[in-house]
Amino acid sequence: MIIGGTGGIGKALAYELAQKGAAITVQGGSSQQRLDTTLSLLRSTGAVAQGFLSPITSSSTVQQVLACSAHPDILVCAWGPFKRGALETMSASDWHDLVWANLIFPGMLISTVLPEMVKRHWGRILLFGGTKTDTIRGFTTSAVYSAAKTALSVLAKSVVQQSAKDGICCNVICPGLTDTEYTDTEALRYNRSHGLPPLNPKDIARVALTVLENPHINGAIIPVDQGLVL
Ligand SMILES: NC(=O)c1ccc[n+]([C@@H]2O[C@H](COP(=O)([O-])OP(=O)(O)OC[C@H]3O[C@@H](n4cnc5c(N)ncnc54)[C@H](OP(=O)(O)O)[C@@H]3O)[C@@H](O)[C@H]2O)c1
Repeated sequence: MIIGGTGGIGKALAYELAQKGAAITVQGGSSQQRLDTTLSLLRSTGAVAQGFLSPITSSSTVQQVLACSAHPDILVCAWGPFKRGALETMSASDWHDLVWANLIFPGMLISTVLPEMVKRHWGRILLFGGTKTDTIRGFTTSAVYSAAKTALSVLAKSVVQQSAKDGICCNVICPGLTDTEYTDTEALRYNRSHGLPPLNPKDIARVALTVLENPHINGAIIPVDQGLVL
């Protein structure tokens, strides 16, 4: 099950998994066209693929979002909206929406799917952090988003502390700037001015697939950012 699997990094990972023969469910936000294109692409590999649109808001329930796949073996939470802005410009609703989408929602998903994974003695959870959120550091233009993304590491390590013994793996990938349909154009400019072309979603997806395939990688916070220095 890939939340945010109809575009960007989530879609690229869905494709890698489909090529490995996994049966895939993708969730998308609001673009029927992107959903249809993604399903055609996944089915072209011979994989079984289903998908649905569910624009997540802070009043969405996990049950609504997991409607098509209540007990996934693999849960990937790729969706993670970004908003640029200095701390003093962030409104209460910015705080609420960014922390809800990037921390509370993935956390609620995990709380919901984990018991069944533990019962089956097998489960893979993959989360996506932000650029350079693999350690505690400060951010001048993305403090709210990055604070929520940094906290995902605590979440992943907590899952592992509690459930590694039950066959559960939970990791976080922290991509560098990646050229997706959703990428912040100012960030693209910054990367280019520092001599680093943006990554391709495929670059991130291939690392993600390696992580999902290898049970020895567990509780890892993995930067995939070409060594970008912010
Ligand atoms: N791209 C980067 O440069 C970059 C860098 C660092 C970290 N990351 C992180 O990597 C992850 C993937 O990023 P991404 O660039 O691929 O894009 P993303 O915008 O996080 O994800 C796109 C996916 O989410 C869906 N979506 C959008 N709004 C939604 C909503 N309100 N409710 C439910 N689903 C929604 C999209 O569907 P629709 O197309 O239908 O809207 C699409 O399937 C995120 O967690 C992001 O924070 C990205």
